[in-house]
Amino acid sequence: MFAVLLGDEMVGSIAYHRRTWQGEQIFETGWNVLPPYHSRGLASAAGATLITIVREIARQPDDPHSLHAFPAVDNAPSNALCHRLGFALLGPCNFEYPPDSGSLMRSNDWRIDLADSGRPAVTPQRDRRCSRHGPYTSDS
Ligand SMILES: CC(C)(COP(=O)(O)OP(=O)(O)OC[C@H]1O[C@@H](n2cnc3c(N)ncnc32)[C@H](O)[C@@H]1OP(=O)(O)O)[C@@H](O)C(=O)NCCC(=O)NCCS
Repeated sequence: MFAVLLGDEMVGSIAYHRRTWQGEQIFETGWNVLPPYHSRGLASAAGATLITIVREIARQPDDPHSLHAFPAVDNAPSNALCHRLGFALLGPCNFEYPPDSGSLMRSNDWRIDLADSGRPAVTPQRDRRCSRHGPYTSDS
């Protein structure tokens, strides 16, 4: 887990961990930024940095080859962030959250191929404008 800092102030966090998803080992990420600091690009910067870090870590053949995020389908900022960071939308799924709670959340499954390092971590501005209002479906 990493702190998101604005100067010396901690304004959010971003994390990743390894897990099994649909029979495969993956890395999963999640993020939050405190409300007064939203929409300043902080999560975009933190997410791009995290992707670089996980790509560096996942170099061994036995390491997971993908990084996933599972925002709720109606979480517009988090789905927009996934798109902006270059994740591909695989589609909606039922996701247990919190872990081991037995409680299922309707989420989108977003995935980045960690081997695909040629892809920009943040999509260009024009793509961002096209995507910002969602809704995020498998066709987006
Ligand atoms: C998701 C979250 C981390 C985004 O943080 P942020 O620093 O405001 O994000 P950024 O400023 O980098 O913006 C990222 C994208 O979200 C979009 N966005 C921000 N606020 C939005 C809102 N209220 N509605 C729709 N889109 C929004 C931005 O426009 C940007 O998309 P774009 O590049 O297509 O324009 C923040 O909203 C948050 O902490 N939410 C609560 C915690 C949470 O839901 N975590 C996700 C669990 S999977």
